[in-house]
Amino acid sequence: MSDSTQRRVALVTGASRGIGEATARALAADGRLVVLSARSTDRLEAIKSQIEADGGQAAVQPCDIADHEALAGLVEQVAGDYKRLDVLVNNAGITRDNLMLRMSDEEFDEVIHANLRSVFIACRAALRPMMRGKWGRIINIGSVSGLVGNAGQANYAAAKAALGGLTRSLAREMASKGITANVVAPGFIETGMTESLPEQVKQGARQATAVGRFGQPEEVGAAVAFLAGEQASYITGQVLAVDGGMTMC
Ligand code: NAI
Repeated sequence: MSDSTQRRVALVTGASRGIGEATARALAADGRLVVLSARSTDRLEAIKSQIEADGGQAAVQPCDIADHEALAGLVEQVAGDYKRLDVLVNNAGITRDNLMLRMSDEEFDEVIHANLRSVFIACRAALRPMMRGKWGRIINIGSVSGLVGNAGQANYAAAKAALGGLTRSLAREMASKGITANVVAPGFIETGMTESLPEQVKQGARQATAVGRFGQPEEVGAAVAFLAGEQASYITGQVLAVDGGMTMC
């Protein structure tokens, strides 16, 4: 067995920027071989090089998570290439915001397809390799929108809330196999997803955040890396809000 396959192997979707990139870097710093995935490989190659320059190991696999056949194929390919899959981080996600009064069927369906059904597809594909390894960590990236709702995000909040039910069911099914499943629910994090929001929305989010500032992707990545670690073996079926105290429930 080569050095690369002795390391635990982690797959992170949406790793080209924001929370996914920060998570991939944190996992690599913890000694995981990280497979970086996103639609385009442009940014991924640069992130891979930086991880390697820092002494870590990474690989790049493009995939559009909205193509569910390709997504299942990605998980199977990673597990096949490295003969193991230890950590799955379902991070890639989209928004198609609109007030419900104006929200189209397409806007609703697109978000459910990309943010919920894709997570089911990837989790299901990861289970056999994780069961073979008798160890696994699944972390699904939710949102505080899924906990408390958000005007203009009925589609997104529904998908993110449903990740809680999916993940708790998965956690129960897999608890005896050494596999944990948890949700990390970020609050307002400074990434591409939030930078174009109107100043008024940002102001409201800042005021609603107890610590009085927005979060950084690294602060979410650190929580994911903890849940993906050896020491998190007794934590499963949880939704961990990483939100500076925006929600306290
Ligand atoms: P971002 O927009 O900065 O990055 C999203 C990543 O997902 C990118 O790498 C993008 O290439 C990838 N992606 C998007 N659609 C994809 C597709 N169809 N196939 C493959 N990759 C795709 O977003 P950010 O903020 O880093 O969000 C990451 C996750 O965190 C998402 O699930 C999002 O819903 C969640 N989140 C973000 C919050 C925030 O304040 N930024 C708050 C709560 C949750």
